[in-house]
Amino acid sequence: MSYKLATVVGARPQFVKAAVVSDALAGCGGIEEAIIHTGQHFDENMSQSFFAELGIPSPKMNLGISGGSHAEMTARMLVGLEEALLRESPDAVLLYGDTNSTLAAALAAAKLHIPIVHVEAGARTNSKTNPEEINRICTDHMSSLLLACTEGNLDNLHREGLAACSKLVGDPMLDAFLDHRNHASKPTPISIFDGQPIELPERFFYLTCHREENTGKDVTLSSILDFAKSLDYPVVYPVHPRVRKRIASLPEEAFENVCPIEPVSYLESIFLLDHSEQVVTDSGGLQREAFFSRVKCTTLLDFEVWPETMVGNRNILAKPDSESILSAIQKPQFIDESYHPFGTGDAASRIVREIENFLGAE
Ligand code: UD1
Repeated sequence: MSYKLATVVGARPQFVKAAVVSDALAGCGGIEEAIIHTGQHFDENMSQSFFAELGIPSPKMNLGISGGSHAEMTARMLVGLEEALLRESPDAVLLYGDTNSTLAAALAAAKLHIPIVHVEAGARTNSKTNPEEINRICTDHMSSLLLACTEGNLDNLHREGLAACSKLVGDPMLDAFLDHRNHASKPTPISIFDGQPIELPERFFYLTCHREENTGKDVTLSSILDFAKSLDYPVVYPVHPRVRKRIASLPEEAFENVCPIEPVSYLESIFLLDHSEQVVTDSGGLQREAFFSRVKCTTLLDFEVWPETMVGNRNILAKPDSESILSAIQKPQFIDESYHPFGTGDAASRIVREIENFLGAE
């Protein structure tokens, strides 16, 4: 018996997870996968470079939907995805994480009575002002098979009455990290000021910061960047497209000891991470990748997304100001070698096994 699975992706972190699972699906034989790209991320270095570098099969269709308010984007995707799913008529829909693409796909599938498989289910921040939290909760409660990265995420699903359809599989980001770490490529960073290449400093801190709450106001972004002034090494900062305008509006002094560069590819990001002194970020994915590579992380959020990474001060929350960031950076981390909350790097094959069992039993 052969089954058809429609995978919906749209944003950078989803491409990384889809890469390892697509690969495992291709090896399993009985499942045909059709990838649908919503278009949420569309710049060459936010989307296409991930498909090329990670060998993800080309999307069967790209809906080209991006930008606008959350409601506008989600609504346009909902309409586009309903049409796409009716055309594809899959046996199930495979979704990753917590972006607007995830929520729109879950709603479209649920209304068409197509079962949903949700990877990275059960992550909770308990902050309803975090847009991804709404996406996570709604997607989980519409899904038929919930695949959790950690015991903590599984516990959350049990608490919400979803135990019967939940399984622990580990984190596919760890699979991707282990697969690619040894051939991560040293980037030639491109300055966002003049488009010219710059020399990657020998020692540096790695910063990613793109969330609205951290970058929406000049004063907040400036007080984050201020931490670089007190460091012995420069801060390399790949800038998400949404932050470019804000960066352009800041005075030159805001960038003392900071190198704002064009976004980097997945392999380049892994290189930067692995060679950095420490990471400062507001990305959920980079917090986990820092944990995998044993690099100390400071997270610019006021809620925990991955509490598993916080054990032993390996990841510390900081407020979006220089003093709070520096205080977190100065605390040493302690690594417990026997602690593997994200599994052992075999999540993709476990995900495929669960999908096979699910489709067979449907
Ligand atoms: C989205 C996800 C977030 C994830 C992040 C990863 C939601 C609600 N948020 O946030 O969970 O951590 O992706 O990067 O889905 N833009 C471009 N080119 C691109 C992509 C974006 O110019 O290739 C600009 C557009 O003007 C867009 C803005 O950036 O309006 C914000 O992008 P959007 O996809 O809305 O959210 P992210 O901040 O990327």
